[in-house]
Amino acid sequence: MLMDTPIHKDIVTLQSHILAQQDKNPQSTGTLSWILSALSISAKVIADHVRRARLEDVLGHAGADNVQGEQQQKLDVISNEVLIRTLGSREGVAIVASEENEEPVIIRNDTAGERRYCVLFDPLDGSSNLDVCGGVGTIFSILRQDRRASDAEASLLQPGEQQVAAGYILYGSSTVFCVSLGDGVDMFVLDPAIGAFLRVEEKLKIPVANKSYSLNEGNRLSFPEGYRDYLAWAQENGYSSRYVGAMVADVHRILLKGGVFIYPPTAKAPNGKLRLMYEANPMAMLIEQAGGKALAGLDSNGEAQRIMALKPKNIHERCTVILGSPDEVDHVVRHL
Ligand code: AHG
Ligand code: MN
Ligand code: MN
Repeated sequence: MLMDTPIHKDIVTLQSHILAQQDKNPQSTGTLSWILSALSISAKVIADHVRRARLEDVLGHAGADNVQGEQQQKLDVISNEVLIRTLGSREGVAIVASEENEEPVIIRNDTAGERRYCVLFDPLDGSSNLDVCGGVGTIFSILRQDRRASDAEASLLQPGEQQVAAGYILYGSSTVFCVSLGDGVDMFVLDPAIGAFLRVEEKLKIPVANKSYSLNEGNRLSFPEGYRDYLAWAQENGYSSRYVGAMVADVHRILLKGGVFIYPPTAKAPNGKLRLMYEANPMAMLIEQAGGKALAGLDSNGEAQRIMALKPKNIHERCTVILGSPDEVDHVVRHL
């Protein structure tokens, strides 16, 4: 029997979605829209490299370490170049900062004229998954340039609450672009036949609960006690464990299906492993905008600390990450 023909919703591309958002704000100059369009072009170029990685022989190490002392993969370097070059050509970009560059890259340094933005990114997240065809992604965070700041780095060191937009691109079985401009989270999938991202979800909501945790359990013995207690509790209560080892892929699953993603402090990474400004903050914005919670553990008074309230001191600083469905994050916090 033939399947019933689905009644399609309107076809909305990422481009037209961004323009429609821009129209809602009479003061908008279109600058941010151009930056998002540069990100969507980068995403298509990186997706193509990722798909062809084995054929083009660009898998494996680039032969250098990045500022974090982590081995750079060839595709980390390629993706970084693609983003810097695409964003660099947009008038509205003042500074970019990347996991792969020790120092921020100043694109334009004028102090008057039109408002400009800073874009921070993890060009290829989970890149060690590439060799095995696993999901990888790009994460980005957009801030307004602070022209009063003394230098480029100082201009970037704003808490996540100040992000004007944030998102990720997942290069998985399809290429997915999730973005928030501070008014919910919208999701787009790349249609390779026409080369455009088409909207598939508007104002995405994370499930309130789901008995699923996502963390590297191999580090369990070096987790602080509260995290070990939480794990014991979750296992007694029928939870499943799901961990890809690429934050974009893990957070994407949690956004759609619910659960909690945790990267606790460990003996090897006492402040956690994930980077505040281009991994934790953008993901925290998406999760909170979708109705979830995103915490960096407890503060010195024993209160839950929101990731986006942290004041960064360094663009590459790390933090603990607990994010996902509100009820599941609460269960973790209860044990800390
Ligand atoms: P990156 O590839 O950008 O360095 O990020 C890797 C990160 C993140 O994607 C993932 O959540 C985490 O590392 C996994 O770390 P473990 O291997 O320690 O679990
Ligand atoms: Mn990463
Ligand atoms: Mn990376």
